[in-house]
Amino acid sequence: EKRIVPYEAIGEAKLNELVDAFYSKVANHPDLQPIFPSDFTEIARKQKQFLTQYLGGPPLYTEEHGHPMMRARHLPHEITPTRAKAWLRCMSEAMDEVKLEGPLREGFFSKLVLTAQHMVNTPDKPL
Ligand code: HEM
Repeated sequence: EKRIVPYEAIGEAKLNELVDAFYSKVANHPDLQPIFPSDFTEIARKQKQFLTQYLGGPPLYTEEHGHPMMRARHLPHEITPTRAKAWLRCMSEAMDEVKLEGPLREGFFSKLVLTAQHMVNTPDKPL
């Protein structure tokens, strides 16, 4: 029985395209832009490494940065439910843009929804 590795099905080129499309949206999103640096080079590089292993590819992130412990690494940043929603919206739009479709997209996106929810560490400010 062959197991499908999402990373192999998507491919390195498309994953890189996706991450670049994603951060151009993050850079322009009013809820997200304030908590990100203006230069996305390093975060995009790390995200490509992370998503590679997240999708079953080689453990590039861990090799360079150690255990991912993503929730802990996000604690210095105020991740609110609104920001998690905005992050997922940017990702969904980036997936549209690079034409990542079908079950591969659905599986990847559902996993990201759970991870994004897990990153939330701050309540939304009341109006
Ligand atoms: C780093 C925001 C969810 C993966 C960061 C940084 C911010 C951030 C502000 C630090 C940027 C910097 O100054 O270098 C958010 C927000 C999220 C979210 C608002 C909404 C839920 C996620 C999810 C993933 C992820 C779902 C993975 C699936 C990463 C990675 C890094 C990072 C790999 C780099 C960590 C490192 O420094 O080694 N994120 N993030 N983030 N985020 Fe997120």
